Amino acid sequence: MARQKIICDCDPGHDDAIAILLAANSPDLELLGLTIVAGNQTLENTGRNACHVLQWLGREQIPVYTGCGRPMVRDRVTAGDIHGKTGLDGPVFPPLRKAPEGEHAVSYLIRTLLASEGDITVVTSGPMTNLGMALRMEPRIAEKIQRIVLMGGSYTNGNVTPAAEFNILADPEAAHVCFTSGRPITMIGLDVTRKVLCYPEIVERMAKAGNCASRLFVDLMKHFCKAQKEVFGWEGGPLHDPVTIACLLDPGLVSTKPMNVQIDLSHGPSYGRTNCDAFGYLGLPATADVAVDIDADRFWDIIEDGLRRYGETEARA
Ligand code: RIB
Ligand code: CA
Repeated sequence: MARQKIICDCDPGHDDAIAILLAANSPDLELLGLTIVAGNQTLENTGRNACHVLQWLGREQIPVYTGCGRPMVRDRVTAGDIHGKTGLDGPVFPPLRKAPEGEHAVSYLIRTLLASEGDITVVTSGPMTNLGMALRMEPRIAEKIQRIVLMGGSYTNGNVTPAAEFNILADPEAAHVCFTSGRPITMIGLDVTRKVLCYPEIVERMAKAGNCASRLFVDLMKHFCKAQKEVFGWEGGPLHDPVTIACLLDPGLVSTKPMNVQIDLSHGPSYGRTNCDAFGYLGLPATADVAVDIDADRFWDIIEDGLRRYGETEARA
């Protein structure tokens, strides 16, 4: 069976890095490229981090395209409290050989989608600025996007404000452009990602794979989980972004409910909230399949399988 073509738009970011790890070496996915956005850290940091991760994993042939360094309208926000000054604090990487391509991420998205057969899934796990800008610059790409699968939002509460989740709050206007694109959307929100907490016993389990991927997982999770405990008090950090890839690998992993989702663009306390009409109060058509539950045990099996797929390769020099 043909591998599913995907483009991952991300802001690595510890959990983005695990999503990249999962997507970059799967027999079921063809990762065409990474498009990078500012979010967890500045674009310079997120771009460099993406190159480090691919080089470490021996997947340097996957191209990286850096994109928008700030949101479409609002001021830029970052998440150094969780991801550190580099955006990927913890692992020590060897000198970087890999560099981003010269083409801007928005240009790459437009060019690649327009040239496609309409068979590319765009996965976003950061602010949706690159995809939002691409849709505004070239609306014809909308019909060429097979599906948007995003980590973002929540139909309950947020993680930066009581109302809003980071990826959406970091660029609500871009999220609005994407959610009104008319394309099929799967929204993986905090409601399910907070059910996959990376407890110490999970880290110990993954370390047993004994390869470059498991080394990276352990080094990333040591920092990520410590930061999550300091900020949220949890014993394990929610592994948000890899859920997007895991549900492509196993569509039965998450259960979803079609809902009308509107991004709050008012500049009040709910700015950046994904208002998910779970009970159809508004009588408006559903605009997204919103994840409402996840098989956490299956998720960790997918993570372990993904790590072990890197074989016995040692950490990259
Ligand atoms: O709210 C969690 C999301 O924000 C994740 O994608 C994390 O990497 C940050 O980008
Ligand atoms: Ca992210």
